Amino acid sequence: MTRKIILDVDTGIDDALAIAYALGSKELELIGVTGTYGNVLVPTGTRNALAILELFGRTDVPVFAGPDHARAKESFEVLEISQFIHGKNGIGEAQIPDAKRQVEAKSAVDFMVESVREYGDDLVIVPVGPLTTVAAAMEADEEFAANAHIVNMGGALTVPGNVTPWAEANINQDPEAADLVFRNARDITMIGLDVTLQTLLTKEETAEWEALGTVGGDFLAAATNYYIGAYDEIAPYLGGCGLHDPLAVGVAVDPSLVTTLDINLKTDTEGETRGRTIGDETRLNDPVKTGHVAVGVDVERFLAELMRRLTDLAAGTAAR
Ligand code: BDR
Ligand code: CA
Repeated sequence: MTRKIILDVDTGIDDALAIAYALGSKELELIGVTGTYGNVLVPTGTRNALAILELFGRTDVPVFAGPDHARAKESFEVLEISQFIHGKNGIGEAQIPDAKRQVEAKSAVDFMVESVREYGDDLVIVPVGPLTTVAAAMEADEEFAANAHIVNMGGALTVPGNVTPWAEANINQDPEAADLVFRNARDITMIGLDVTLQTLLTKEETAEWEALGTVGGDFLAAATNYYIGAYDEIAPYLGGCGLHDPLAVGVAVDPSLVTTLDINLKTDTEGETRGRTIGDETRLNDPVKTGHVAVGVDVERFLAELMRRLTDLAAGTAAR
């Protein structure tokens, strides 16, 4: 049986790998991609998502645009560090043709709300950017929070943040949205830096994609090599690039890839810890735990799954 999935992306290099992971997973039916801001502006991210879907021959997957800035702000500008990690075009300056189609007229918020109403337990939402769109969906439909199943890339519980000592990048973009989502979601799995910085890719693996001699393999290798180069500069002690977003998709396919801690979550929105993901003290004694924070990951198995799925997908694209 396949599980329906909506990917909410700020495409982004690891977002691109997450899209590829979803496309390469027979267990998943990607019913839509929703585009948020973060690594790039919304129009750049949706442009990339559409182009990647076309590259992999999946023009059947619709792309929707979400809000273009955080709840507490009036606009959004790409941070310098995001440009450094993902390149100006978001996909490591890799060049792939524009898609022949455009984003849908329907908003990402409406698409999420309608999909949860229609598919309920058969659907998983995987946000791998700021939680602005998911928070807006929660506000738009009072049953959304109770019915949506969410596997989110964002946050850090047992390790420091990657933007401030407290805050991870996706949460840092819109802490108010993250707080609303964590406090209200009935079922949310947090795939944070605790685990995503344990899953790393190196140029040894991307050489396998290059060796395929296909346009899909070339794209995956070029974008990921740029990302690896950025990680070599900002976190040389890791020895590879963090597979943040694809790990969230991996867990949506197979939750046994991670071990989780059941905990009711919140996000700090005030003071120096703004953007910190942490247990909600007011729900500490609530017997129902709505949050599941990944604290352990089967690194070897995940890397093998990622390489198998992405390599098979890229092998099926046109020769370079
Ligand atoms: C997250 O931030 C973004 O830069 C990545 O795409 C990922 O979703 C990692 O902190
Ligand atoms: Ca992302």
